[in-house]
Amino acid sequence: MLARDWYYNQRRQLGLDSAVASIYDRHDDSDIRARAALTMLGVQSGWRVADIGCGNGVLAVEAALMGAEVDAIDISPAMLALANIQARDRKVAVRTQPAGMLSFAYQPNSYDLIVSEFTLHHLPDFWKAVALARIHAALKPGANFYLRDIVFVSMPDGVDRDVEAWADFSIKNHDFERESVVTHMRDEYSTFGWVIERLLTDVGFTLESVDYHAPLHGTYLLRKPKPDHQQS
Ligand SMILES: C[S@@+](CC[C@H](N)C(=O)[O-])C[C@H]1O[C@@H](n2cnc3c(N)ncnc32)[C@H](O)[C@@H]1O
Repeated sequence: MLARDWYYNQRRQLGLDSAVASIYDRHDDSDIRARAALTMLGVQSGWRVADIGCGNGVLAVEAALMGAEVDAIDISPAMLALANIQARDRKVAVRTQPAGMLSFAYQPNSYDLIVSEFTLHHLPDFWKAVALARIHAALKPGANFYLRDIVFVSMPDGVDRDVEAWADFSIKNHDFERESVVTHMRDEYSTFGWVIERLLTDVGFTLESVDYHAPLHGTYLLRKPKPDHQQS
């Protein structure tokens, strides 16, 4: 077996995790929005659901409250600590896994739904594809992947305008500091929507719907197709 000493070190994005966790240690309407998304996705009691890059665990906890068996996965121990507190406070069980998109443990074809929100941009594009292929492998045939992230929809000549609009939007609507927008642009790996779409379809997903909205947000609903002999 090769040492794979060339494998991407996901933990290099971890430096600020306690600071980031403090941003997420807030009470807002994210539980209501998470429940609406999970209802739209048809979550049912007994489903196996994973939230990858689960952050403070709001969506994972909502899925568990709907009766799903939930894996809350995040590279950051500080975030998983918040997720565990959230689960305890809401009196529900979630299974936390301290791992990244490139390393989470899974049984092939085992999940009824995987969700990942605002996490994929932590990986450079090559590694995004590796992560998406792992997610595809982990889903049951016919199951959905719900992906949201910060993506660029303009061509590069629109970037100055878009980034400033996004900074204004985030500061006004999400109480973000300008510095978090600066860090995102300088040190993280958001890419174009068309790159994400191509990566998703190349690893085997069917694009059910795509929505680009409020500055730089992309929402993708994907399906892992069933093999031909299983199509109904
Ligand atoms: C911006 S937060 C989003 C959290 C949550 N999904 C939400 O929408 O509120 C990004 C999360 O991704 C986690 N993260 C960063 N790199 C990761 C990786 N390679 N694999 C899994 N999680 C990662 C961070 O620790 C953080 O909790």
